[in-house]
Amino acid sequence: KASFRERLDNERSKALLGGGQKRIDKQHTRGSLTARERIELLFDPGTFHELDQLKAHRCVDFGMDGESKQFPGDGIVTGHGLVNGKVVYAFSQDFTVLGGSLSETHAEKMVKVMEMAQRVGAPVIGLNDSGGARIQEGVMSLGGYADVFQANVDASGVIPQISVIMGPCAGGAVYSPAMTDFIFMVEQTSYMFVTGPEVVKTVTDEVITKEDLGGTGVHTSKSGVAHDKFPNDVAALRAMRRLLAFLPSSNDKTTLPYKPTDDPADRPVPAVARLVPDDPNTPYDMKDVIKEIVDDGEIFEIQPDMAKNIVTAFARMEGHTVGVIANNPISLAGCLDISASTKAARFVRFCDAFNIPLVTFVDVPGFLPGSNQEFGGIIRHGAKLLFAYSEANVPKVTVITRKAYGGAYDVMSSKHLRGDANYAWPGAELAVMGAKGAVEILYGGSGADIEAKSAEYADQFANPMECARRGFIDDVIEPEDTRKMLCNDLRVLRTKKMPDIIRKHSNIPL
Ligand code: COA
Repeated sequence: KASFRERLDNERSKALLGGGQKRIDKQHTRGSLTARERIELLFDPGTFHELDQLKAHRCVDFGMDGESKQFPGDGIVTGHGLVNGKVVYAFSQDFTVLGGSLSETHAEKMVKVMEMAQRVGAPVIGLNDSGGARIQEGVMSLGGYADVFQANVDASGVIPQISVIMGPCAGGAVYSPAMTDFIFMVEQTSYMFVTGPEVVKTVTDEVITKEDLGGTGVHTSKSGVAHDKFPNDVAALRAMRRLLAFLPSSNDKTTLPYKPTDDPADRPVPAVARLVPDDPNTPYDMKDVIKEIVDDGEIFEIQPDMAKNIVTAFARMEGHTVGVIANNPISLAGCLDISASTKAARFVRFCDAFNIPLVTFVDVPGFLPGSNQEFGGIIRHGAKLLFAYSEANVPKVTVITRKAYGGAYDVMSSKHLRGDANYAWPGAELAVMGAKGAVEILYGGSGADIEAKSAEYADQFANPMECARRGFIDDVIEPEDTRKMLCNDLRVLRTKKMPDIIRKHSNIPL
């Protein structure tokens, strides 16, 4: 009879081989890495500590008690290690073992790392590659999913939770990633949907491919479910390491990251004035402006392919992470619409939950008009961004580069929403609307000289003077001083304190 030591070694080598070489080869042929190869790439070399390597499922139904259906680890690799030198927890589903399907024990392993991550205040990363609920376990695996969902919600706002979808993710499986802070997807090999093409065909008669129903294109540019897509596993995991470098480990302020930089805080940024055209109707790419201003021109964009009329990105100022939100006139003239509002609102709330200051660049002609927007609920969705900015009590610094019209002026981190530092460049217009539109409403049909009245209105409002007089902006600043001013304010605001309002929770219009 084999000694305990021999049995242990045997179990360990079985665990390392997952579903066996044949299935590993199939995974590679598909262009995917195995669960363990992904873990190796995610963590700093040699730092991963595995947990529950020997944990096995307890199912005896449908032949599951047979030797060939027992896989130590039960189709998921879990543990902790270091990413950029900081502790991170992770789970990585192993598609080679019973299709990475989720059993009761598989779910227990996920919940364990999520709870441990929360206990020590470290991010948790989920690498998803699973055929869904383990069919042989039936309702047991549904219970497992729900336990995972509850753990996701408990950890929300306490530790960053990030998912990478690296294979199938369908049915109940979608809702754990959906409740994490960020979702990355891998092109060609990953998809997400609540019901797959076969069910869609049966129920609605619609014929659609997996890719068209729930591929990366759908979720990064249409549905907004995912936050970015990458050509392969390696690129996705590299991006994850880059993103983690911007994030604190938890909502404890002492975990805010700092990356030393040689980029001087008082560096003048003369190029930004040239990047922004004087004519208020000429588009430009706000990302160019942001890159001039932040440390070393480095940004990590969130949802770059979704609602391009607003930019959401992590960057650093004097080495400290900031969340940048900026209207982008390159798309829809920078108008706020439903997609832009929800995209930015979620980003603002992430930053606020994790003590990341908000840097806002404003160039917004207003909300996008039209029945599509109204029927879609722009009132409710626009309110999300307004609500998120108002509720955020992290440092909030804002620069109006060219125009801020109407309700959108109020929404975009205005002074009235307790903005800490609000500036405008000299060419900025802050008004209810453009001069011509305003005068047509006021004097249309009255026979008044529209040209002259427009000039009069523009003289009063098409510049930042009126707002400066009232203290709605703290100052008019030269564009080239923008980095210096913002760095200075963010330094002062590092000790900002705002009392929490005592209540169970607010009721953001969902
Ligand atoms: N439960 C148990 N085993 C599963 C499983 C599940 N949900 N999903 C896949 N598997 C197993 C398969 O039986 C197969 O086992 P084998 O290697 O011993 O032959 C292995 O995982 C790989 O699956 P396979 O179908 O060969 O892979 P594929 O790449 O061709 O297809 C899926 C992948 C996910 C599309 C397909 O497996 C599938 O449709 N699975 C069921 C999805 C589902 O309905 N889940 C339950 C509801 S959430």
